[in-house]
Amino acid sequence: MSADPNELPPSYARVSLAVITSGREANLLGNVHGGEIMKLADSTAGAVAQRHSGGPAVTAAMDEMAFLHPVHVGDIVHTFAQVNWTGRSSMEIGVRIEAQPWNDPSVTSLHVASAYFVFVAIDADGRSREIPQLTPETPDEVRRMREAEIRRAHRLAKKREIDSGRTRD
Ligand SMILES: CC(C)(COP(=O)(O)OP(=O)(O)OC[C@H]1O[C@@H](n2cnc3c(N)ncnc32)[C@H](O)[C@@H]1OP(=O)(O)O)[C@@H](O)C(=O)NCCC(=O)NCCS
Repeated sequence: MSADPNELPPSYARVSLAVITSGREANLLGNVHGGEIMKLADSTAGAVAQRHSGGPAVTAAMDEMAFLHPVHVGDIVHTFAQVNWTGRSSMEIGVRIEAQPWNDPSVTSLHVASAYFVFVAIDADGRSREIPQLTPETPDEVRRMREAEIRRAHRLAKKREIDSGRTRD
C-alpha cells in the first residue's frame, strides 16, 4: 500500500459480503425481491465508501441496475465492491452481485447484477469533505478508473442539462 495516507489503492477499502437469503426477502412470486438486492449492494458500497474516506459517506446516486437472473430464496448472495474512481469528495464504487444455491456447491455462482454507486464523503455538518485519492495498481483497476471517468462525465452532463431546463421554465 502507498505510504501517503492521501493516496489509497482500491484494495485498501475493498469489501465482500455474503448472506443466505430467506423467505423474509421474498416477493409475491417467491423469489428474492429486487429491492433487497439493491439494498445489499448499497450497504456493501457504503462500507467501502466509509473505509476509503475514513468517515461518514452518503449515497448520492446509483446508476441503473439490470437483473440478469432471478435470485431464489435460500441462495447465498455474494457482493463484491471496490472504489473505481475518486474526485474531491465523491467516489464511484462498483458492486458485483453473485448467487449460488446454499445446498449445492456444484452449481456455479451466477452473476445476477452489477451497479455503480456515487458516494459523497460528508463532515459533521453534512457538507462534502475531501477524500484520499485512488491509486490504481493493476491494469484492471486502471481500466475501471478510466471507464468510471466516462460515466462521471455522462452523469454530470445529464444533471447539468436537466437542471438548465428547469431554470428556463
Ligand atoms: C450528496 C450531497 C452531500 C451532495 O451535496 P452537494 O451540495 O451537491 O455537494 P457538492 O456540490 O459539494 O458536491 C460534492 C460532490 O458530489 C458530486 N455529486 C453531487 N451530486 C451528484 C450526482 N447526482 N451524481 C454524481 N455526482 C454528484 C459532485 O460532483 C461533487 O464531486 P467532487 O467533490 O468529487 O468533485 C447531498 O446532495 C446530500 O446530502 N444528498 C442526500 C444523500 C443521502 O442522504 N443519501 C442517502 C439516501 S436516503
